[in-house]
Amino acid sequence: MAKRIFPESKLAHRYLDGLTGLEIGASAHNPFGLDTKNVDIADEFNRSTYKKRELHISGEVAPIDIVAPGDKLPVEDASVDFVISSHVLEHFADPIAALREWYRVVRPDGYIYMIVPHMERTFDRGRTRTIVAELEARHAGTLAATPDPETGHYSYWVTEDIVDLVRGIGLDWELVDFQDTDDKIGNGFAIVLRKGALSAEERKHVDAKWAAHLAKRQELSESFFRPGSPVGRALELVGNAYRELVRSGPLGLWKRIKEMKHRS
Ligand SMILES: C[S@@+](CC[C@H](N)C(=O)[O-])C[C@H]1O[C@@H](n2cnc3c(N)ncnc32)[C@H](O)[C@@H]1O
Repeated sequence: MAKRIFPESKLAHRYLDGLTGLEIGASAHNPFGLDTKNVDIADEFNRSTYKKRELHISGEVAPIDIVAPGDKLPVEDASVDFVISSHVLEHFADPIAALREWYRVVRPDGYIYMIVPHMERTFDRGRTRTIVAELEARHAGTLAATPDPETGHYSYWVTEDIVDLVRGIGLDWELVDFQDTDDKIGNGFAIVLRKGALSAEERKHVDAKWAAHLAKRQELSESFFRPGSPVGRALELVGNAYRELVRSGPLGLWKRIKEMKHRS
């Protein structure tokens, strides 16, 4: 079977080349090509679901260097240059605890880089957006969360949700860059945080980029193409089908369509 591998991220290379870090939940078919040790949990759901899928897509599985939950890393404080993850944060019942753990292990001026599925561009569309107050309640232990049995997702987000979360979490880090559409699979968004303060020049740059993003979102919300409108929905279905075709091949796409029909 032909291997299907997603491209490495130019954005990740720009920030993380020459550094060493941890990747939480790596896969062979969606590699970053960085200097990392791979951390993965070893429970049955993850082994059977993700590793089988990985093997099916790319003919191999990414090695696991450290078997541990991604929110309880067996490494010293401030001991790595970066923590990176792709399509993983939504798998934690308490993502605030995971983010705090990633912050703990990263050294000053180190990076937390994450790609998170964008709910308007995945089969998570139609779910209720997970607001910061809900995440805080889960973190405080006053609200329990259950994952979707099919996807293992506990939370559903757009780019603005994670930026609000990381800016309000009270940690000494800053948004240094982002992509509303990530440059790997393309169905998520990328967030790049750096531990410590940005220079005035860096802050000006990222603030301007963020303001332009918000203006574009506002424009989109008033257009025919807005998510949920008939045209927006059609575009999204075509985009999702294309990504599933690249990821899983024609049979995988057909299986996914049948699952969706069954669910709706
Ligand atoms: C959806 S896959 C993403 C794989 C890959 N990064 C990608 O972008 O295709 C989620 C990965 O995160 C791992 N994972 C899920 N929950 C985890 C946890 N609590 N701690 C560590 N790894 C976890 C899974 O085992 C799996 O390898």
